[in-house]
Amino acid sequence: MTAPRRSPPAFREAIRLARVPLYPFAELERRAAEQERPGRPVLKFAIGDPDLPPPEALTRALAEILRSDPTSHGYSTSRGEPTLREAVARFLRVRFGVPIDPEREVAILVGSKEGLSGLPRALLGPGEAVAVPDPGYPAYVAAALLNDLAVERLPLRPGGGWLPDWEGLSARVGLAYLNYPNNPTGQVARLPDLKEAVDWAHDHGSALAFDNAYSEITYGSEPAPSILEVPGAREVAVEFHSLSKTFGIPGWRVGFAVGNPDLLRLLVRLKSQSDSGAATPLQRAAVAALGLYRGRERPPEVARAVATYGERIRALAAGLEALGLEVVPPQGALYVWQRVRSGGAALAERLLDRAGILVTPGSAFGRGGEEYVRWSVTRPLSEIETALRRLPAALSPRRGGGDGAPAVGTPPEPPPGTGSGGSRSSSPRRRARPATRRSPG
Ligand SMILES: Cc1ncc(COP(=O)(O)O)c(C=O)c1O
Repeated sequence: MTAPRRSPPAFREAIRLARVPLYPFAELERRAAEQERPGRPVLKFAIGDPDLPPPEALTRALAEILRSDPTSHGYSTSRGEPTLREAVARFLRVRFGVPIDPEREVAILVGSKEGLSGLPRALLGPGEAVAVPDPGYPAYVAAALLNDLAVERLPLRPGGGWLPDWEGLSARVGLAYLNYPNNPTGQVARLPDLKEAVDWAHDHGSALAFDNAYSEITYGSEPAPSILEVPGAREVAVEFHSLSKTFGIPGWRVGFAVGNPDLLRLLVRLKSQSDSGAATPLQRAAVAALGLYRGRERPPEVARAVATYGERIRALAAGLEALGLEVVPPQGALYVWQRVRSGGAALAERLLDRAGILVTPGSAFGRGGEEYVRWSVTRPLSEIETALRRLPAALSPRRGGGDGAPAVGTPPEPPPGTGSGGSRSSSPRRRARPATRRSPG
C-alpha cells in the first residue's frame, strides 16, 4: 500500500525576489485589460515597444540564413558569433570613431537587458552596492536586488538636463549605471557629461555600465555619443547597445556590450554558465543590420523610423502643451516626460479610468519620477491624436462629483487609420504591428 501523499508544497518567492517591486508594465497591462470596452480600446502609451517593422535587409538576411546555412542551427558561443562581433567593431568605428577589438572588447547579448542585469552578478558581492540613476530604467534596481546587492540612488537633476549628481555615493559602490539618451526623461548627454562619469569612476575605483540602448534615436542634428569616445573610458566602462530600438526587433533579443575587456570577460564567463548565447541565426542576420551604417549618419532605414518617432513626439508634446500641460522637451529615446506637480500616479490612474489612456507613472522609475508620467511614442500618430482628443474630459473636474459616465464628454472617435498618422502607418514599408505583444520597455 502506498503512503498517502502529503499536501502539495506551497511555493513562495525567495526573499530576494520579494524585495524587487513587480515589473511595473505587467501590472499596468493588467489594469488596462480591465478597462477595455468594445469599440473603445485602451490607448497604450506605457511600454517602449517599437511598433515599426525592421529594415528589409535584416528580415531578408534571416530568411536566407535559415534557408541556406545548415550551420546556423547550432549553439553559438557565450561571447557571440565572430561575424557579428566584427560587425559590431566596424559599427563602433564608423559611427563613433572608436576602435574596438572584436575578440576581447565585444560580447553579444540576449538583448542588452541580459547584460545589464548580469554585470553586477559577475562583478560584485556581499557588502557592495550598485548606483542606480533615479529616475531610471527599472531593470537596474532589479539587477542589484536579485544579486543581494545594496542600491544607492544616483539622482538625476531636473534643473540640469537630468544629469547625475555624483556627490554622496558611498565607497561601497562598485558599479554605477548611466543611461543616455535617457529613459524616461528623453535627455541626451554630451561628451563633457560622460567625461564627468568616467572621472568619477576612476576616482572612485568603480565600474560604469553605460546604457546606450537609444544611441540612434535622437531628434537634434548632433548624434548621441559613445562613452568610449572619452579618453580613459575603456579602463572603467562597458557600454550596452540594443538592436531592439534601432532596428525595431525587440522580440529578437539581440544586443551587445563593448568596452573594458576584463569586465566583458567576467560577463562572458557568467553567460557561459547561464544562457549559452543569443540565437545563432538571429546573430548572423544582425550583421546585415549593423552593415547598413556607412558613417556617422543614420542609414535611410533607421532615419525613416526616427523621423516617424520624432513626428509623434512633436505632435504629442505640442498637444500636451496646448492643453496647458508641462512637458520636458525630448531630445532622444521614445518618450515624452510630462510634469504633473500634483503627482504622476494619480494622473496615470485618472487617464486610465476616465479616458482609457495608459501611461506609465513616473514613480515606476524611482522617487525622482514621482511628479511625472511617461508617454511612449511607439503607437501611431492616429492614436496620439485620439488620446489628445480624449484628454480634456479626463483632466476637467467631474461635474456633480462623478456621474459615472465613461470618459465624460469624450467625442466620438474616427475609424482607425483616418488620423494623420493612419496613412503613414499603413504604408507597406512602415506598417505598424498589432498591439498584442507584451514586453518590457
Ligand atoms: C534604457 C533601456 N535600456 C535597455 C533596454 C532593454 O533593451 P533590450 O531589448 O536590448 O533588452 C531598455 C528597454 O526598454 C531600455 O529602455
